[in-house]
Amino acid sequence: MSYSIAIDGPAGAGKSTIAKLIAKKKGYIYVDTGAMYRAMALYFIEQGIGAEEQEKISEAAASADVTISYENQEQIVWLNGRNVNGLIRTEEVGKMASSSSANPEVRRKLVELQQALAKRENVVMDGRDIGTCVLPDANVKVYLTAASHVRAIRRYEELKAKGQECELDVIEKDIVDRDYQDMHRALSPLRQAKDAVLLDSSAMTIEQVADAIIRLCD
Ligand code: DC
Repeated sequence: MSYSIAIDGPAGAGKSTIAKLIAKKKGYIYVDTGAMYRAMALYFIEQGIGAEEQEKISEAAASADVTISYENQEQIVWLNGRNVNGLIRTEEVGKMASSSSANPEVRRKLVELQQALAKRENVVMDGRDIGTCVLPDANVKVYLTAASHVRAIRRYEELKAKGQECELDVIEKDIVDRDYQDMHRALSPLRQAKDAVLLDSSAMTIEQVADAIIRLCD
């Protein structure tokens, strides 16, 4: 039986940083499910489809083939055979991903892929619905959050470091809007699973959060 750690929470809570660190410490595979939704979103943007055009999204989802592979423990996301890692980390793609991830066809495809992966490998998987829907029997479930202002500052610094133009108050508004959208959609909304441990990282370091989760595993 493979071992699985599910980490859910809102945008910018530090899920991917923490999940990567834990995966490294435990020798597990890190699965960034947000990146898969972002790859799908990129496809819709490239097809000229708008966030509100749910019928077109359902149709186009059939011809978007998203897969992942690993190179030096780094997850690579492939969209129809093209490595899109360098294209999916923008606010535009993030916003589209938040809208298009509410689509049942998009979720069905990606959840299938995620569940198949977790069956084969020991995983640390992060997202919005991992503990509630994708891996309801995960060995450890964590709901990782932080105050929206703290999350906005983290995202702002991340984008700045990559040389992207951004404004803190715009980022905070986007985060609050995205939380609302992710928490209020009909299908697999973001929420804490009943058996998930709540961790608020607002005043914690990355190491402290990772240690707390590793203690839960032990
Ligand atoms: O974690 P992220 O910012 O890369 O995710 C982008 C969007 O994808 C997020 O706003 C909602 C969606 N998502 C989802 O619906 N379910 C997941 N398991 C992961 C992400």
